[in-house]
Amino acid sequence: MEKKLCWFQWIALCSFLLAAVVSSKHHGNPANDLVDIINKNRTSQRLRQLNNSPGLGCIALQFAEECKGNCTTNNTLNCHPPEDNFTEVFAPNCGVELPTFGTVSGLILGCQHKYLEPLEAFSQALVRDKNSLSLLSNKTHTEVGVGVIKTRKGSYWCVLFSTSDRNSSFVLEDLGQGIKQKKGCFSGTSTPCSSSGRRKTSVFSDNVFIACFYCILLLQLFYFLLL
Ligand SMILES: *[C@@H]1O[C@H](CO)[C@@H](O)[C@H](O)[C@H]1NC(C)=O
Ligand SMILES: *[C@@H]1O[C@H](CO)[C@@H](O)[C@H](O)[C@H]1NC(C)=O
Ligand SMILES: *[C@@H]1O[C@H](CO)[C@@H](O)[C@H](O)[C@H]1NC(C)=O
Ligand SMILES: *[C@@H]1O[C@H](CO)[C@@H](O)[C@H](O)[C@H]1NC(C)=O
Ligand SMILES: *[C@@H]1O[C@H](CO)[C@@H](O)[C@H](O)[C@H]1NC(C)=O
Ligand SMILES: *[C@@H]1O[C@H](CO)[C@@H](O)[C@H](O)[C@H]1NC(C)=O
Repeated sequence: MEKKLCWFQWIALCSFLLAAVVSSKHHGNPANDLVDIINKNRTSQRLRQLNNSPGLGCIALQFAEECKGNCTTNNTLNCHPPEDNFTEVFAPNCGVELPTFGTVSGLILGCQHKYLEPLEAFSQALVRDKNSLSLLSNKTHTEVGVGVIKTRKGSYWCVLFSTSDRNSSFVLEDLGQGIKQKKGCFSGTSTPCSSSGRRKTSVFSDNVFIACFYCILLLQLFYFLLL
C-alpha cells in the first residue's frame, strides 16, 4: 500500500509541473512578444529600440478590430478606415488624451485564416515585402504599438509606428483604466489578453491538466481513507 501511495504522489507532482509549464507558456501577451521581436530585429541591425507605447498599442488593436472580416483568401488585408477614425473613434475608445495624440509614421497590417505564434506572425503575416521591411528598419521611428485579435475566421495583426516624443505622446487617461476593449491583446500593458487574443484551445488544455491534477489528488485521498 505504501508503494502505491508513493506512485500516485509522483504522478500528481508530475502533472502539476506539466500544468504549470503549459500555462506559463501560453499566458503571455503575443502583442508584447511581437514588440520584442521587432526590437531584436532592429538592434541586430544597429538601430535603436522602440518604446513600447500602450496608447499606440490600444489604437493598433482598435484598428485591427475595424479590419475584422476583410482578410482575403490570399491572406492579404484590404482595409482603409478613414483618417478621422483615429482621433474620433480609436483614441476616445482607448482613453488617449487627445492633446497627446502624436504622429503615426507607419502602419503594417497582416491577417491569416489560422492563428500564428508571434515569431511566425512576424515573418509570415507582417514583414512579407520590401515596404514592411523598410518600415521596420526606419531610423526615425521612436515608438511602436501592436494589436492582435483573433476571430473565428482568422487572426489580425496591426503594428503602428510613431515619431513622437517618447513617454509624452499617446498618454492614457487614468493609466488606461477606462479602456473599452473586451477582445484581443495590445502591447505595452501587463494586463493579460482578453478572450480572443490567443488560441482558445490552450485555455482548454490548461483546464484539462488542472482537472487531472485534482482527480489524482482525490484518488490519493481515497487510498488514504481505505488505509
Ligand atoms: C491573390 O494574389 C494575387 C497576386 O498577388 C492577386 O492577383 C489576386 O487578385 C489575389 N486574390 C485575392 C482574392 O485577393
Ligand atoms: C472591408 O472591405 C469592404 C469590401 O472590399 C470595403 O467596402 C470596406 O471599406 C473594408 N473595410 C475597411 C475598414 O476598409
Ligand atoms: C469610422 O467610425 C465610424 C463611427 O464608429 C464607423 O461607423 C465607421 O464604420 C468607421 N469607418 C470604417 C471604415 O470602419
Ligand atoms: C522613415 O519614416 C519617415 C517618417 O515617416 C519618412 O519621412 C522617411 O522617408 C522614412 N525613411 C525611409 C528610408 O523609408
Ligand atoms: C529582420 O526581419 C526580416 C523579416 O523577417 C528578416 O528578413 C531579417 O533577416 C531580420 N534581420 C535580422 C538582423 O534578424
Ligand atoms: C520612458 O519611460 C521608460 C519607462 O518608464 C523609461 O525607461 C525611459 O527611459 C523613458 N524614456 C524617455 C525618453 O523618457
